[in-house]
Amino acid sequence: MSIKTYIFRVQRNTCHGDNGKVDTNWQEYIIECEETTTVLTALDDIRDHQDSTITYRQSCRSAICGSCAMKISGKTRLACKTHVGIVARSVEGKEHQVIEVAPQGNQPVLKDMAIDIAPFFDRVIKIQPFIKGGDEADTEVHQNSYDQVNHVTQCIMCGCCYSECTVAEVSPEYIGPAALAKAFRFVSDPREGCKTARLKELSEDHMMWSCSRCAMCVEACPKDVAPMEAIVKLRTRGIQKGFTNTTGAKHALAFHEDITSRGDLNEFSVMMRTIGIFGTMGEIPTALHLLKKGKIPSPIPHKAEGIEEVRKMYDILEKNPLDVETKAKEVEPE
Ligand code: SF4
Ligand code: SF4
Ligand code: FES
Repeated sequence: MSIKTYIFRVQRNTCHGDNGKVDTNWQEYIIECEETTTVLTALDDIRDHQDSTITYRQSCRSAICGSCAMKISGKTRLACKTHVGIVARSVEGKEHQVIEVAPQGNQPVLKDMAIDIAPFFDRVIKIQPFIKGGDEADTEVHQNSYDQVNHVTQCIMCGCCYSECTVAEVSPEYIGPAALAKAFRFVSDPREGCKTARLKELSEDHMMWSCSRCAMCVEACPKDVAPMEAIVKLRTRGIQKGFTNTTGAKHALAFHEDITSRGDLNEFSVMMRTIGIFGTMGEIPTALHLLKKGKIPSPIPHKAEGIEEVRKMYDILEKNPLDVETKAKEVEPE
């Protein structure tokens, strides 16, 4: 493998005490390395030979501990898992390809790429990440009862998902994808005794119904945990347990009702069923704006062509919920 020259553009951050004010500037370093060198190794090289003041976290160097997560060329990734050649970009006016390094998003910065991880872990602690005793604990646990659980236990608490979460960006109260994936890990654990109580708490404000399903967490996760899928499964279980008195649940049910009955959304009526008449009246300015732009949908319900096909799809999904849940069929141990 040939050696190439790269420019590392590193965000330097200095936090001024408790007022949270952070001074930010960018510093460039030239480094020679192979395309397959990891960003973490390249940063170590810069720190060891050019500038010992650069600050970042690392530990395992094997994509296991989660401590080296940072924004690399615009996306949050693990520095120890990311090859320089994959993220290097040509930039106009620059002689060599550039790799940009910055701290995770949505989290308080302490120095350079080091963030304060306490708020992230506070969110995880809030969902009480441990098995609780109670009436709903299964007394029999089969060999493949853990298919759901195993998937989410791959999480290494790196924070990549939270860093990229579009809702966390605008709503710091949101519990976030990692905590919700962790919550699903316990709701789906057969030994958990308080599944319903957990789903009730998860139906509250700033919990599972706040996710906008943008899928950024799925894309960012280095361990394929797919937090958004866990959130969707939590919502399904919440509705099945009768926790339907939330805006999110009402919206999902209205959506389901329209698609199964007509194959087409009646957006006005979906809004009425979701936020009620007073809420809908509050949206009149938005509706007038949409009307002006010619984007207001027809308020008259109509049936979509091919509705029978849509119903068949629903029938299949409803008869095979295990496929939707990617849950292996429960079988007796051999
Ligand atoms: S899908 Fe939901 S949890 Fe995931 S990044 Fe988007 S808003 Fe956040
Ligand atoms: S869900 Fe994925 S991205 Fe989020 S903390 Fe866990 S391992 Fe990291
Ligand atoms: S150093 Fe542990 S995940 Fe990168």
